[in-house]
Amino acid sequence: MSQDNIHPVFDRLLGRGDKEKLLGQKSLVVWLYGLSGSGKSTVANLVERALHAEGFMTQILDGDNIRSGLNQNLGFSDEDRLENIRRISEVARLFKDAGVVTIASFITPKRELREMAREIVGEDDFLEVYVKASFAECARRDVKGLYAKAAQGGVKQFTGKDSGFEEPVGDRALVLDTESESAEDSARALSAVILDRIRIEK
Ligand code: ADX
Repeated sequence: MSQDNIHPVFDRLLGRGDKEKLLGQKSLVVWLYGLSGSGKSTVANLVERALHAEGFMTQILDGDNIRSGLNQNLGFSDEDRLENIRRISEVARLFKDAGVVTIASFITPKRELREMAREIVGEDDFLEVYVKASFAECARRDVKGLYAKAAQGGVKQFTGKDSGFEEPVGDRALVLDTESESAEDSARALSAVILDRIRIEK
């Protein structure tokens, strides 16, 4: 689509710094990803509560919520997942610009999607977190009954079954292994890392 008649105005807007000062925090986008049922939403909620209790302003963006509103026209093809993540990354950037600590929680199955999110949000403000649990473990938990349904052929393009999931390479991501530790312990570890990055020296 042509951008010819679009004239974004950024220079007259109050800056991110003004908003961070008002809120008494530095903003950050925390991007949790992993298989469905790996514990992303659970960890996101625990972390949000911990940060809120310390006086920080947060916002969660979560797969099932965003897909029932903003992205309700998108499915699970590679193309739709890319558009899903692209829109969410733009939304996360807006929250970041508003000074808010934003916790995004999406499967984000491909490295290319994570790299796109990082680029849209901005390298310096992006914390990539892999919520790690194997397909077998997620199928055993099957919180939403989707693994059983997929095994019967009732869910097309199911992540980890007929649609791929790529693990992170190198040290791109902080890894929370929810198979070997509790969600509470994972959330505690992540909250500590986030608090270090969002505190403003008084
Ligand atoms: S992503 O791949 O585009 O990042 P997203 O996190 O938004 O996915 O949505 C995942 C959620 O959609 C899952 O937690 C699950 O509840 C639901 N879902 C429905 N169909 C599928 C599918 N085919 N694959 C994975 N998740 C699905």
